[in-house]
Amino acid sequence: MPLDEASAKRYARKSAFLEFCEKDGLSVLTGFGIDDLKTAPLKHWERLGGPAAYCHLEGSQGFVGVFIAEIAPGKSLKPFRHMYEEQVLILAGRGATQFWRDASSDPITLEWQAGSLFSPPLNVKHQHHNGSATEAVRLATANNLPLIMNVYKSPDFVFNVPYEFTDRFTGQKDFFNGDFKPGEEEDRVVNFIPDLNAVTLDPHPERGIGFSRLGIHLSGNSMVGHIMAVESGTYKKAHRHGPGAQVIVIAGTGYSLMWYPGKEKEMVRIDWQPGSLLVPPEGWYHHHFTVSKEPARHLALRRGLRLVGHPWRPNLSEHEGGHLLEHEDEPPEIRAVYEAEMKKAGVPFRMPPVQRRG
Ligand SMILES: [Fe+2]
Repeated sequence: MPLDEASAKRYARKSAFLEFCEKDGLSVLTGFGIDDLKTAPLKHWERLGGPAAYCHLEGSQGFVGVFIAEIAPGKSLKPFRHMYEEQVLILAGRGATQFWRDASSDPITLEWQAGSLFSPPLNVKHQHHNGSATEAVRLATANNLPLIMNVYKSPDFVFNVPYEFTDRFTGQKDFFNGDFKPGEEEDRVVNFIPDLNAVTLDPHPERGIGFSRLGIHLSGNSMVGHIMAVESGTYKKAHRHGPGAQVIVIAGTGYSLMWYPGKEKEMVRIDWQPGSLLVPPEGWYHHHFTVSKEPARHLALRRGLRLVGHPWRPNLSEHEGGHLLEHEDEPPEIRAVYEAEMKKAGVPFRMPPVQRRG
């Protein structure tokens, strides 16, 4: 077999995770972004007992992704436990999740609504229930199932192993009390956020003139995340980092541009609204532009794993050896296109003029 044919065949092989999805009947969605997780097409997944799909986007690169599921009015999904981490975002509806340890018969119940975020502790048994008799619940979980399934290749191990991570959870009744505690660096440790829109963020103008964020770390996970906002009329400086950051839009409308360095002509544009998902591939520049009158708010959940892969420094300017692109260095048409978009939307453009270095 000629070498390039052999290499093409090698690249066409499915990952262990995608083989699992096919065998297990879990529908997979692909691309650079998902227009709306609230309306993305789902198919019945017997393992969880409801309609579901897995978003395995270009930028996920086999580490993390977003699972979507729906719970019919008045119904529940099956009880579930798994050896991968997940952060559950409620996109629509209201209901509750019960959590219990192997030996306990007295579950903890957490009530939630659209905009809530929580993380079932690793391998703890849990069951999601719809609390409404008329409205469906739709939820999205950012998780590292691809990474775990690519390593172990055993659904029986991933979904059916009786091990308790008591360093993360011992059945504490107040585990999901919603307290924000100090975490590593600027992050906060929090196990339940009732409403992502109500969280106060810290301003970070060095990363973008109207940019604010709060790092969050849930349920002792290796996965980490942040909530971020980009003010109306502004956009965030482009930056580059590792694979798999699942960016879910909570509020506002706008668009993101993503491109591989030197491939500005092949720039990918993702228009977004509440419910959109985008995942910048590793090492690609990406900018987030807010077009709406209200600020955009995004939830970004990512792989974590300190010192795994390339040591990206997305918060440090390229002039200082990092991977944050200063406005003066960005492709000039980017700002012109944004200004035109704002004019079209009738929303004031609020970016200060670019300061060129002398
Ligand atoms: Fe990013």
